[in-house]
Amino acid sequence: MAKIREECEILHMTDKQLREIMTRLHNDLVKGLSKDTHPTATVKCWLTYIQDLPNGKERGKFLALDLGGTNFRVLIINLGENHFDMQSKIYAIPNHIMTGTGIALFDHIAECLANFMKEHNVYEERLALGFTFSFPLKQMGLTKGILQRWTKGFSCSGAIGEDVVQGLKDAIARRGDVQIDICAILNDTTGTLMSCAWKNHNCKIGLIVGTGSNACYVEKTGQCELFEGDMSKSDMLINTEWGAFGDDGALDFVRTEFDREVDSNSINPGKQIQEKMISGMYMGELVRLALVKFTRMGLLFGGRGSDLLFQRNSFYTKYVSEIESDKPGDFTSCMDVLEELGLSHATEADMAAVRHVCECVSRRAAHLVSAGIATLLNKMNEPRVTVGIDGSVYRFHPHFHTLMCEKIAQLVQPGISFDLMLSEDGSGRGAALVAAVACRESLGCA
Ligand code: GLC
Repeated sequence: MAKIREECEILHMTDKQLREIMTRLHNDLVKGLSKDTHPTATVKCWLTYIQDLPNGKERGKFLALDLGGTNFRVLIINLGENHFDMQSKIYAIPNHIMTGTGIALFDHIAECLANFMKEHNVYEERLALGFTFSFPLKQMGLTKGILQRWTKGFSCSGAIGEDVVQGLKDAIARRGDVQIDICAILNDTTGTLMSCAWKNHNCKIGLIVGTGSNACYVEKTGQCELFEGDMSKSDMLINTEWGAFGDDGALDFVRTEFDREVDSNSINPGKQIQEKMISGMYMGELVRLALVKFTRMGLLFGGRGSDLLFQRNSFYTKYVSEIESDKPGDFTSCMDVLEELGLSHATEADMAAVRHVCECVSRRAAHLVSAGIATLLNKMNEPRVTVGIDGSVYRFHPHFHTLMCEKIAQLVQPGISFDLMLSEDGSGRGAALVAAVACRESLGCA
């Protein structure tokens, strides 16, 4: 165990390293926002064209689509006074569609939408729709977004460089059976922020720690050099796309052999470097690679692994949450996981070591996210900010919230207070709210 603890030290980031990361991220955010440096910036800081936060008076019936997490969902949302109701359905995105053509992806989405409308008896109605599309978009307006790159395992051909709203409109037109007004396209971080801001007016940061990781925040319009529209509104939500932080080597000083291996085995090597150190799509695999190394060194399982342990992506990220949910000294979940992996010969010392590896990997992720949030809080320099958060890792990991609270408090400038709030279904309700605010502002729908 002592040897394993020593080996795991590379996963520990000191406050000095975290502060260095904050300086680098801050500089990258400024580069992303500035006109001259934006084209070469790694953290793009995309404009969202969302300038109005909800005021709680939004009303009406909306459709929403949510693509880009673990699931694809269609939702219908009724916003009323002080309450809303929502019905939704999850649809699978089969692997051949995730990696097929853009056209096939949009046809699939349009088909799910039409089926959903039939089931909810709104097939004949012309409803407004908000589209949560959680990939990097260069937005040209609230209803126009050019796809920059795929992330999180998607790789549909012929979609990069294209307007995603047009792609969906074309697919709906090809069917010809439903009428939809697409009122807004947004990121899941933005939806999370909006959904939280509906109740809490201090909510000015939206964060996702799920399949991927990303954050958006409220910036002064004056700082958004790429914005050429109406400067009379003081604020603009910025989608940082911080998952790409590190793509130029900025995080190499803290990356490990496990990070490099996860990256080289991925479908987008060299891309989304920070995301690969944080998010649910990769966390389990990082743990597995460490376990494999320690087994080969003879430090774990008496040097005897299993076929599954040596198989890529067999250690699910949800295992990390399960193992860390065991009380100290208890290894019930840990034992279940190891049995599932064909490692029932694990001793109690092995189980303690496996838990330690999980803790090191998840704590590092929480600290990296905390450094990012502290950077945004310091940059915004507002006395009190609520961070709206969603995503499977934040939601299900037993200690992520506490780790983040502690670390942000250490890294943020004195005088800034913050709280972290779980955002209930940001991607769905947030999409309806953005659509509603767009209608309120009568910006017109596409
Ligand atoms: C990826 C996407 C980003 C999204 C995040 C969380 O980083 O590029 O747009 O917000 O995942 O889902």
